[in-house]
Amino acid sequence: MIDSNDLVKELQGLRDDGHLSDALLRHSVKQIAASDDRFDWVGVYLLNTEADELWLHNYVGTPTEHAKIPVGQGVCGTAISEAANQNVPDVKAVENYLACSPYVKSEMVVLIRAGDDIFGQIDLDSEQKAAFTDEDEAALSAIAEKLAEQLAAERR
Ligand code: SME
Repeated sequence: MIDSNDLVKELQGLRDDGHLSDALLRHSVKQIAASDDRFDWVGVYLLNTEADELWLHNYVGTPTEHAKIPVGQGVCGTAISEAANQNVPDVKAVENYLACSPYVKSEMVVLIRAGDDIFGQIDLDSEQKAAFTDEDEAALSAIAEKLAEQLAAERR
């Protein structure tokens, strides 16, 4: 289980030292992936509003062919079109699922957002069925909130 308090503090430390979102997003993905054996693939997708697509920013895990995902497609694109986090206990049950690896059984997507403003998402895959809990979602949301703070500051 990721300790979100520690990571949020580290992210603020990076901000205080003048690092920008790129560094914060990469650090978060590495720390989240290292924190728990259930997390077999961890990545961040950022929303490109002009293309209406999610673009993969960085990840830890096996390479994926889904570097760009149209809004509305797959678990990732659905999170954007519904403006809601996704916890999918069994990816086989999702009609428009975009498979990255045949071994993945469950997936969680947590939006990086500041209110109605959605910047992107943290995406996690697990090779265990129903791997993700409400506690995971809460911890990842706290991290996502910190990332959104920086992304919003850069947009101004
Ligand atoms: N499974 C995702 C695609 C991204 S990969 O998991 C890295 C989806 O259905 O949107």
